Amino acid sequence: MQPTILVFDSGLGGLTVEAEITRQRPDARIVYCGDDAVFPYGRLSPEALVARVMMVMERLIPRYAPDIVVIACNTASTLVLPHLRSHFEVPFVGTVPAIKPAAAQSKTGVFSVLATPGTVRRDYTYDLILKFAAESRVTLIGAEGLAGLAEAHLRGEPVSDEAIRAEILPAFVDHDGKHTDTIVLACTHYPLLLERFRALAPWPVAWIDPGPAIARRVVQLIGVPPPGATKGEGLALFTGDRPPAPPLRAALARAGFGEIAALQLN
Ligand code: DGL
Repeated sequence: MQPTILVFDSGLGGLTVEAEITRQRPDARIVYCGDDAVFPYGRLSPEALVARVMMVMERLIPRYAPDIVVIACNTASTLVLPHLRSHFEVPFVGTVPAIKPAAAQSKTGVFSVLATPGTVRRDYTYDLILKFAAESRVTLIGAEGLAGLAEAHLRGEPVSDEAIRAEILPAFVDHDGKHTDTIVLACTHYPLLLERFRALAPWPVAWIDPGPAIARRVVQLIGVPPPGATKGEGLALFTGDRPPAPPLRAALARAGFGEIAALQLN
């Protein structure tokens, strides 16, 4: 049976997770929803964010009857997952900062978490550090404008090196001669800029993109494609009223989205 996978984010960042899911389950029908009417989520209060995600899910889940929902957003997952799981029966897979793998792979014990201002304030993030990285030197960066720069990049708008550099430089630290050697991309938008990060980094580091691990978790839950399965179709929904510019339309078409539509919330 062809599964329907609902992938949700505040905007375009969840496409980095969706691409990995499609690689591992190319037969799935993907419904992607970018809640860009209120982008960025990183600036919303916890109460506003919980209410917003619950409201959008109330519209999406009955309408598209997904077999699984992927909250491809750290800012939402670190807060809203318990609410979603207690309210809906469908299984949810979340995206939370990859602090455990970073602590395991960092050789200097100095690593950074590049996230949104919302994610760096979450108890969930502090708990992950206490649990898995108590021995490490962890720098949390709540980048104010980086998700917006990633959106602009995917929309084909110019994004200057200076703007990106200013957001990522605080993640590079020298602690008593030990340098940051690992940076967690704890916002699904950031892998959209990974090539630019690599080019602008003051020294080479390992960048952890959680997309492949999230996709593996999805496949664990719904299984591998059955033999002979054909390619699934994709529907991309946006809550905002900004029509996708041609470069974004082209990127969505390349990602397999044959249909792009506005999600009416009323
Ligand atoms: N893509 C989202 C995340 O993973 C956040 C971007 C935003 O602030 O809306 O955290």
